[in-house]
Amino acid sequence: MLSSTTNLLLRVCSVLLVLGTVAATDHIVGANKGWNPGINYTLWANNHTFYVGDLISFRYQKTQYNVFEVNQTGYDNCTTEGALGNWSSGKDFILLNKTQRYYFICGNGQCFNGMKVSVLVHPLPSPTASPVAHSASNSTGAAGLVVLPRGVTGLRALAVALASIWLGYGWI
Ligand SMILES: *[C@@H]1O[C@H](CO)[C@@H](O)[C@H](O)[C@H]1NC(C)=O
Ligand SMILES: *[C@@H]1O[C@H](CO)[C@@H](O)[C@H](O)[C@H]1NC(C)=O
Ligand SMILES: *[C@@H]1O[C@H](CO)[C@@H](O)[C@H](O)[C@H]1NC(C)=O
Ligand SMILES: *[C@@H]1O[C@H](CO)[C@@H](O)[C@H](O)[C@H]1NC(C)=O
Ligand SMILES: *[C@@H]1O[C@H](CO)[C@@H](O)[C@H](O)[C@H]1NC(C)=O
Ligand SMILES: *[C@@H]1O[C@H](CO)[C@@H](O)[C@H](O)[C@H]1NC(C)=O
Ligand SMILES: *[C@@H]1O[C@H](CO)[C@@H](O)[C@H](O)[C@H]1NC(C)=O
Repeated sequence: MLSSTTNLLLRVCSVLLVLGTVAATDHIVGANKGWNPGINYTLWANNHTFYVGDLISFRYQKTQYNVFEVNQTGYDNCTTEGALGNWSSGKDFILLNKTQRYYFICGNGQCFNGMKVSVLVHPLPSPTASPVAHSASNSTGAAGLVVLPRGVTGLRALAVALASIWLGYGWI
């Protein structure tokens, strides 16, 4: 009896943890075409929805290209002055951890040949499937952090209920 109750608790616990966790997505710029000249990355970006905590990743020949994070002026004019970051590994993963518009360009002149991409990062969506998470939908950003204590509270109530059922059986 104890082991099956414990088993059930563990299952319920893992389900609640999964519900409380929003999976992050890795958005590969240009998909299988990667980060190269002559591609309209606006079309690529329009086809994706970006959420806080997602990654954007750039795949390219590291001897030829690179990635700079710039502001709107840098994006519009293909300039890297005052760049907010730069990457050149050829396989760069960049965490989109703010709700804002990000601008990335290639810093070696290929920006003028289309190597520029701008993405708008949205707040985390509320997982509508979970009533627990739904009530926390007004929180900005850290939905996982808010959901978990609620899940844990529910879990405790559940544990108490299950324990009393088990004890009830135990005394019969
Ligand atoms: C890329 O596509 C967008 C959306 O269709 C369009 O507005 C833009 O002019 C295109 N850019 C280039 C450089 O062709
Ligand atoms: C948009 O996404 C769909 C489905 O993943 C894909 O078939 C299509 O090629 C994409 N279009 C562009 C412009 O990336
Ligand atoms: C960016 O380019 C526009 C014209 O394309 C120009 O008017 C503006 O002064 C430029 N800004 C900077 C900071 O160079
Ligand atoms: C972008 O950064 C440059 C250099 O730091 C600065 O001169 C420019 O005003 C900034 N543009 C915007 C739109 O913030
Ligand atoms: C690239 O970023 C590093 C810090 O990460 C900085 O020291 C360097 O000056 C940057 N390079 C350019 C060309 O902006
Ligand atoms: C976002 O990530 C950058 C570096 O990856 C870090 O410096 C910054 O503090 C983070 N911001 C937030 C709001 O977590
Ligand atoms: C959501 O949060 C905002 C700002 O924190 C607050 O003004 C608003 O009343 C909240 N709405 C609900 C339904 O709790």
